[in-house]
Amino acid sequence: MAAVAQQPISMAWGFGGSALQTEGAWNVDGKEPDVFDAYYTNLGTSVKAPFIAADHYHRIDEDLKILADLGATAYRFSISWSRVLKNCTGEINPQGIAFYNKMINQLLAYKIEPFLTMYHWDLPQTCQDSFGGWASDKIVDAFLVYADVLLANFGDRVNYWLTINEPRANCDMCMMNPKFPPMTTNTPELYMKCMKNSHLIHGNVVKNARAKYPALSKNWKFSIPQIMEWVEPQSDGSSLDKQTQWFYDPCVFGDVTCNLDVTKCVTIDPVPFTQAEKDLMKGTCDFIAVNVYSTVGVSADPISDPTYWPNPNPIGPRKMPKFLYDRYKVPIVLSEIGFHVPNSMENNIQDVIKDTYRVQWWQEAAPLVLEAITVDKVPLLAMLAWSLLDNYEFNTYSLRWGHVAVDCKFLTRTVKDSAKYLKDFFANATLISPFVRTAAPSATASATGSGPTNTGSAAATATTAKNSGGAATVAAGLTSLAIFLLFA
Ligand code: BGC
Repeated sequence: MAAVAQQPISMAWGFGGSALQTEGAWNVDGKEPDVFDAYYTNLGTSVKAPFIAADHYHRIDEDLKILADLGATAYRFSISWSRVLKNCTGEINPQGIAFYNKMINQLLAYKIEPFLTMYHWDLPQTCQDSFGGWASDKIVDAFLVYADVLLANFGDRVNYWLTINEPRANCDMCMMNPKFPPMTTNTPELYMKCMKNSHLIHGNVVKNARAKYPALSKNWKFSIPQIMEWVEPQSDGSSLDKQTQWFYDPCVFGDVTCNLDVTKCVTIDPVPFTQAEKDLMKGTCDFIAVNVYSTVGVSADPISDPTYWPNPNPIGPRKMPKFLYDRYKVPIVLSEIGFHVPNSMENNIQDVIKDTYRVQWWQEAAPLVLEAITVDKVPLLAMLAWSLLDNYEFNTYSLRWGHVAVDCKFLTRTVKDSAKYLKDFFANATLISPFVRTAAPSATASATGSGPTNTGSAAATATTAKNSGGAATVAAGLTSLAIFLLFA
């Protein structure tokens, strides 16, 4: 095992999850159906539906307490669009805003940095019905309305924003190889349009944020998390380069810079960007968020099942931060890292909780992740293990990705051995979180959850201003909250 440096290391660590996969409460407190809810409702089955998921919505206090007890200093979660906005881009749902205010305030009270994902694949069914969702260019304007609501309501406390989780997966699964609801369309052209629109959405969101909220946006950092596979051995022009150029070049350099005549970035040509679009996108990734699961070209021994995904050889998360930092020269965040223990190795609940295989993997992987900082000198801001909870894996509950077990029947939580291992490992590695804030909401404020009446009073402004296409502006006084981000 690699040696752990004794010097304090500047990195936050924690876990992630997404609204669709964790929250449940699909029709509670004004939430409207997303495409998954609608799809499974129409099918007349709840077995494969996210209706309950891990019931995070109702158990948020307990879940965040677990997170704090584990010593986590960062948490990645996503917002459910159809929980905070009615009718795709219509009125704000104050109860939805209140839920996320409560979550954010509790995280800050625990000194846990929120990483807010704006979109993790749960499109409101109303967006699908009214203009065709991701198959239409209208998704760009709709997303901007939605994003502005989030910036206006949560931007006084949230600094780290992830616009769209894994555009490739979102566009691929929805458009080209439909595996996700709405499962309606199926062409490479729609896939490419979706990919291009994802880049444009990201650029527009960031441009809008900086122009509309000049004071608050000084603290805001944006990225667009992509899923990358590490390739061994690494060589120029490999699929690693192509993935990178197609995924991150637009938001850093303003274009897809690989030579499309010589080596296609993907299997079919991307839709080219106009000069205005390039100008829009350039410089809109303040950091690179990367989801790293699989490594190509090395074995994942002792998992010998060839059908198993991912191949979790930890050489990927070890090498990916430096590879990306060398190219983009902005801080890196490992926004998802982990794997599910093969079902064959979890025959009963004791196996699930003991998760020996995941513990063994982290024993190797966690010290390697730190080497990206101590050896490679990469500003790796955070490592977010996927996931906090055993949750909904898009059409199944049987793949347990969580570090906290969730009982399928009673939804009770049990911390797994892997989470305990990470707690001890990072405590002993003497990490210092790079996210230092001068003020945090009090635990009392965070515990109310009764509505947008806490330090996130931007929400009050937003909820009283009926959203008719643009979000409420953030009250000027909020800038005095003096929440500062300090990069290491
Ligand atoms: C997605 C997660 C998912 C994980 C495991 C990631 O690519 O972002 O939502 O749970 O893969 O399949």
